[in-house]
Amino acid sequence: MTAVIELRGVTKDFRTDRRSSTTAVDDVTVSVEEGSIVGVIGYSGAGKSTLVRLLNGLEKPTSGTVEVLGVNVGDASESALRDLRRRVGMIFQQFNLFTSRTVAANVAYPLKVAGWKKADRDKRVAELLDFVGIGDKAKQYPRRLSGGQKQRVGIARAIATDPRILLADEATSALDPQTTAEVLDLLREINRRLGITIVVITHQISIVHELCDQVIVMDGGRVVDSGDTYRVFAHPRAELTKRFVAAVTQGVPSGEALSALAAGGGDLVSVEVNEFSSEDVSAVFHRHGARHSVVYGGVTDVLGKQLGTLTYRVHAEDLAPIVAELRAHTDVVVPAAKVRS
Ligand SMILES: Nc1ncnc2c1ncn2[C@@H]1O[C@H](COP(=O)(O)OP(=O)(O)OP(=O)(O)O)[C@@H](O)[C@H]1O
Ligand SMILES: [Mg+2]
Repeated sequence: MTAVIELRGVTKDFRTDRRSSTTAVDDVTVSVEEGSIVGVIGYSGAGKSTLVRLLNGLEKPTSGTVEVLGVNVGDASESALRDLRRRVGMIFQQFNLFTSRTVAANVAYPLKVAGWKKADRDKRVAELLDFVGIGDKAKQYPRRLSGGQKQRVGIARAIATDPRILLADEATSALDPQTTAEVLDLLREINRRLGITIVVITHQISIVHELCDQVIVMDGGRVVDSGDTYRVFAHPRAELTKRFVAAVTQGVPSGEALSALAAGGGDLVSVEVNEFSSEDVSAVFHRHGARHSVVYGGVTDVLGKQLGTLTYRVHAEDLAPIVAELRAHTDVVVPAAKVRS
């Protein structure tokens, strides 16, 4: 495996006035493997966009080293940086298209800058527009396009010069859920078919869950969790990661929710589902002849695998052997315990 991005102890300070400064990126050490799709997730102000700007050399680190495709961004010359930017494509939330140029001219722009001949440009642009699914829009102006179509133009332009890395900063945040799903599909295809490494910046956990095989969780400029997406969310280390998971999976009922559920009869059993899925849980209940139904909780799909906590109301002669069998596979809590753990 080759790292295409390598950050070691990277800090970026911005001077806010004569006496003070903000640390936007704080001692970050991460690497990104070639061919992966990495999500950088965090709330507003976490330093995500600054991190991206460090990757394409728009910002230089205050300390530490940023290495992208073998280029040390911190001490690269202007011409080396220009060359690097040709190999690192970028797409944006607001698309950043030239409104006075046609779709074809927008996509041709980076090719023109790179010195491609007109005939070669035309051929390449037609190919690119077909690839992103808007082959019929070449002569239109951006204002006539939907948000999803505009982002397809942005993507075609970003991959025109055949970059090795694509940076997407909140690229779907201005789109509705259906269009977002289509753009994510396109990004996945770009990754699989063209082998381009993709870095997706987002504050939406669902995008990371659907698309990214690796994740970097940022909080206050620092990386607080990182690694394989499923592992990070199944075994969160940072409070922020736990909060991201809890927002989609609810966890174990407590307080009033628990009292209300407990009043409903039967036993309550909360089971963490993961590789041990909700179907596996149901199979255990069935084997013991126990009637059961989900009364609380939520499960999210992370790259096709379940993740979450489900609370069941169970009617069984003897709950203990059922709980013991479930515990052999995963974490189980009996919130209103008749069964002692
Ligand atoms: N050019 C700059 N000058 C001064 N401060 C800056 C500059 N760029 C970013 N910052 C500060 O650095 C911090 C991180 O900003 P950044 O834009 O990287 O966050 P973000 O995670 O992308 O947020 P958002 O989700 O809102 O886009 C913020 O406190 C921001 O105000
Ligand atoms: Mg940002």
